[in-house]
Amino acid sequence: MSMRSKLMVGNWKMNGSLTANASLVADILAGMPAVHCRAALCVPSVYLAQLQALLTASSIDLGAQDVSPHGSGAFTGEVSADMLHEFGVRYCIVGHSERRQHHAESDELVASKTQRALAAGITPIVCVGESLAEREAGQTEAVVKRQLAAVIHANGHCISEIVVAYEPIWAIGTGLTASPEQAQQVHAVLRAQLQAATAHADRVSILYGGSMNAANAAELLAQPDVDGGLIGGAALKAPDFLSMLKTASR
Ligand code: 13P
Repeated sequence: MSMRSKLMVGNWKMNGSLTANASLVADILAGMPAVHCRAALCVPSVYLAQLQALLTASSIDLGAQDVSPHGSGAFTGEVSADMLHEFGVRYCIVGHSERRQHHAESDELVASKTQRALAAGITPIVCVGESLAEREAGQTEAVVKRQLAAVIHANGHCISEIVVAYEPIWAIGTGLTASPEQAQQVHAVLRAQLQAATAHADRVSILYGGSMNAANAAELLAQPDVDGGLIGGAALKAPDFLSMLKTASR
């Protein structure tokens, strides 16, 4: 849909080092003159200061991978939304399936994190997605709707300020990409759910994530409700990430 320019987000997950980051970003920045879509990098929190400096004066926005549901205080190990904001963070992934799985994050916790991000002026990238067992049991729509409903319930009219990422768990890091039709079907369900909650659902970017790569990005991005990508492995290789950014620029 023409009113939403594509948004391509690299999720580095727990990868990188000071030297590797500097070289990856330099290689990406060298190709940016040919890129005309929105782009962001979500990096481990210890590297936010480094990336803030590296991305200064570039058109790539800075992103984090998680945020505390608390404002401040005795929460050892956590990073607050205000702290992220202080380091120039524009986007924050919330509710990634790896956090839902390995850190037992509930729909309600994800909703709280979304609220904290929005209150700090950070755009949350709210991840939803079904497991293979859930898909095979015909529960895909019910699962993603339940996950998004918790976030809509907690955020009311602010919901048009979020970004949604549909990431089928069976497609993450597996090389098994959802087909363009499978992705569009779920994205349309999510769009309809947003439309029931806000008059501005057309503004919400709904990203696809899960083994998106330079070879399959074009057909996924051609779907009417696929507004960009949340990219893991392929975002760690500058040529692949740049190729996808260029595809999204067309
Ligand atoms: P991959 O692109 O490595 O499958 O990861 C997708 C993802 O989880 C992005 O958040």
